[in-house]
Amino acid sequence: MKHIFNKGKDANKPTLLLLHGTGGNELDLLPIAGIIDDEASVLSVRGNVLENGMPRFFRRLAEGVFDEADLVFRTKELNDFLDEASEKYGFDRTNIIAVGYSNGANIAASLMFHYGTALKGAILHHPMVPRRGIELPDLSGTSVFIAAGTNDPICSPEESTELQSLLEKANAKVELHWENKGHQLTLQEVEAAAQWYRSL
Ligand code: MLT
Repeated sequence: MKHIFNKGKDANKPTLLLLHGTGGNELDLLPIAGIIDDEASVLSVRGNVLENGMPRFFRRLAEGVFDEADLVFRTKELNDFLDEASEKYGFDRTNIIAVGYSNGANIAASLMFHYGTALKGAILHHPMVPRRGIELPDLSGTSVFIAAGTNDPICSPEESTELQSLLEKANAKVELHWENKGHQLTLQEVEAAAQWYRSL
């Protein structure tokens, strides 16, 4: 997968896996990684799917309606890529924290829905429930920060709390942070995520 790897100053820090929103690329979230932890290694990946020229991490049939087969395929592809990248760059595969926005947050959630040890933790900005009706793996030891908007037209407040409860039922530790805003990624929620990260 097309990506950037920036080796951090401190090898004991987690590797931050950056996953952009629809139409973005691997450069978008680099400033956010600097706010979360400027000493951590960063692996920033570009989604392999194109929708009218816009990169995404998996196909959708319509706004908010996911192509489940492609979601499952792309989730495995990303999980396999993390295995390869950890070998190639020599970072700890068991200590990855994803930072995803929108479509990137959805594939990060899907990694946790399908693979119990894919991520050590995740910061999900405006995620949706990636799939319903499946049994999640045991997510004991996984910490998740969700930033949601009370007026988000794409990810409703109900869907944000549903995601929280699905992850908690699988034993993940989840903090849900609300902004009185829509779908946009705000500096306030990034600062709240940085505070959560420092408390890990
Ligand atoms: C998705 O397709 O993943 C969600 O609708 C969010 C987005 O617009 O990317």
